[in-house]
Amino acid sequence: MAEEKLYLYPVWLRIWHGVNAIGILVLIITGISLQFSNTEFSLINFELAINLHNIFGVIVSISYLVFFVGNLVTPNKKYYHIKRKKQFRRLVKQGVFYMSGMFKGEDPPYPISEKRKFNPLQKYSYVVVMYLFLPITIITGIALLFPELIIEDVYSISGIFLTAVLHAALGFMISIFLIIHIYVAALGRNPLQNFKSIINGYHEPG
Ligand code: HEM
Repeated sequence: MAEEKLYLYPVWLRIWHGVNAIGILVLIITGISLQFSNTEFSLINFELAINLHNIFGVIVSISYLVFFVGNLVTPNKKYYHIKRKKQFRRLVKQGVFYMSGMFKGEDPPYPISEKRKFNPLQKYSYVVVMYLFLPITIITGIALLFPELIIEDVYSISGIFLTAVLHAALGFMISIFLIIHIYVAALGRNPLQNFKSIINGYHEPG
């Protein structure tokens, strides 16, 4: 049966996604620059990188609130519900499709519909990134903006050091997510199909 054109990405979600995508890209670039800068060398001017990282950190945090509240009060929340039964089997089935079936031209095991916007692997990765990685990165980032709030030491290790390590490690995980996310997004019926959807709101059939 032919797929129908589906309106899956409402305006608020597309605005959030655009702001978040640009913001996170700036945070990753400036974050890498800060991580690898020293007194003799910096990829981006150190002061500029700090200022951009702080400003875009605040922008991404505010846009996260839009996502969080939007996903509480609109029907979009239904796509993030984790069901209890047979989840592992569903994840494996999708993984096998990505690793093998897809290259043999098989149909996806969990095609997009009004009821199911994400396949199981997408759903779990979005839940982990949006409800674990991003909030912890935001909280540790705010703590690093106000270091006087951070516990001085934890088992005699500096609290600021631990917060910075957690912040950088999760920033790294989000960067890895982003690479996979863009690759997976390009796996529609044609490579631009999903990118068009997140801009115009419609999932196009075919
Ligand atoms: C250049 C950067 C990015 C591009 C090109 C991009 C692309 C896309 C595309 C094409 C979709 C729709 C298809 C799908 O659901 O997979 C999407 C959805 C999504 N993206 Fe991204 N993305 C980017 C950055 C990000 C970042 C940084 C995050 C989070 C840290 C993110 C989180 C999400 C989420 C949660 C959805 C599903 C939203 C919903 O429908 O509820 N994206 N993205």
